[in-house]
Amino acid sequence: MGETAKIILNGQEYEFPVIEGTEKEKAIDISALRATTSYITLDNGFGNTGATKSAITFLNGEKAILRYRGIPIEQICEHSTFIETSYLLIYGELPTKSELEKFEAPFEKYYKLHPDMLNCFAGYPQAGHPMGLLSSMMCSLSGYYPELLKPSLSDDEFEETAAELLAKVNTISACTFKKMQGQDFVEPKEGYSYIENFLHMMFSTREKEYECNETIVAALRKLFILHADHEQNCSTSSVRLVGSSWANLFASISAGVSALWGPLHGGANQKVVEMLEEIQASGGDIDKFIARAKDKNDTYRLMGFGHRVYKNYDPRATIIKKDCERIFDTLGVTDPLLDIALKLEAKVLRDDYFVERKLYPNVDFYSGLIYKAIGIPTVMFPVLFAIGRMPGWIAHWKEMKENPESRIGRPRQIYTGSTERDYVPIDQR
Ligand code: ACO
Repeated sequence: MGETAKIILNGQEYEFPVIEGTEKEKAIDISALRATTSYITLDNGFGNTGATKSAITFLNGEKAILRYRGIPIEQICEHSTFIETSYLLIYGELPTKSELEKFEAPFEKYYKLHPDMLNCFAGYPQAGHPMGLLSSMMCSLSGYYPELLKPSLSDDEFEETAAELLAKVNTISACTFKKMQGQDFVEPKEGYSYIENFLHMMFSTREKEYECNETIVAALRKLFILHADHEQNCSTSSVRLVGSSWANLFASISAGVSALWGPLHGGANQKVVEMLEEIQASGGDIDKFIARAKDKNDTYRLMGFGHRVYKNYDPRATIIKKDCERIFDTLGVTDPLLDIALKLEAKVLRDDYFVERKLYPNVDFYSGLIYKAIGIPTVMFPVLFAIGRMPGWIAHWKEMKENPESRIGRPRQIYTGSTERDYVPIDQR
């Protein structure tokens, strides 16, 4: 018999199996706990709770390791494209040349929006946050593909939906930007790569075609890859939870976009730059902001620091920081915010409060500065995160649907409200 764990409740002993992952991480399988003991477990924010077994991404927060399907993120960033990485995440293996061509071929068709979708954009307020628009549009896509909404998709139907979502998030994201700017949408361009098309649809206008710059294309390639998956994070867990009710992939992805929007998750990249701007506007008084973040009576946090799983430097932040400085040099961009960021990081890494709590820069700390350097407005940063995270969401939805052990996600609770009491008519209250 393998390793087991014992729980003693009121003198009675209960034994539960321990399961082990391929990287030797261990879990006590308490699936039978309530049925055998009538107790449940309580785990605020699911900090210790494994919601599923997964073979997509491995990360070790103590050792700063991140691997997609076993391949270190550093190697993927060095050699792969975003579409190849997407295939790897979704299907589990690096594609052959012909597999990749087959996967990518329909993208050109799928970049194009259904003409009726333009009406959806037209009815949305120009000042609305692009993440609200992106989430709505992702869900609206379901209206155009009724044949893809059934609970089980064939392999071909799934592939079509996945390619459709990857292509459409690119176009729709660019359109949210155009909407914000009050500019006409720009058609995708034949022969352009995924990232070139994104930049073209974002920045070309009727009057002037955007010229893609190699450094910018390479920077976005790496950023999208670095954001492509991060196992059971808040937005991915949302996608899985919604999908667990057999909701279609479009609806599930829309929930992922909404979860990502929050400033504690994918919205942090926007908040980092706003925080650096605030520090700059206050005359660069970094210590004042650090003191606020440490004050127990203040809810203020230093954006871009800390992570639920990384208790070491986020390996994605290591790559982005190096890139950030190089991209600034190559593009000849200077930004006083970079200097503030470097100083803030140096101070935080020496400060006992942050050291004791193992709060290091996360992926969002430097990514916003790169987006800013390449001309993307702050409010669009979470949208770029969503483009990057799309393959991860799709891969997790697929894995969940194919797992015969999957059940509808339905946590329990410990009730802390009133015990039974009688209804009081309104005139007697
Ligand atoms: N600034 C100041 N203090 C912090 C910060 C921060 N950025 N992050 C955590 N802490 C403190 C908490 O106040 C807490 O202190 P305490 O133990 O004295 O109460 C301790 O560190 C642990 O923090 P928790 O909130 O319990 O950690 P949790 O794992 O729940 O949260 C999170 C992780 C949300 C990322 C948090 O560190 C945070 O809010 N960071 C800022 C927002 C951010 O950068 N989010 C992006 C994360 S990366 C991503 O989602 C892509």
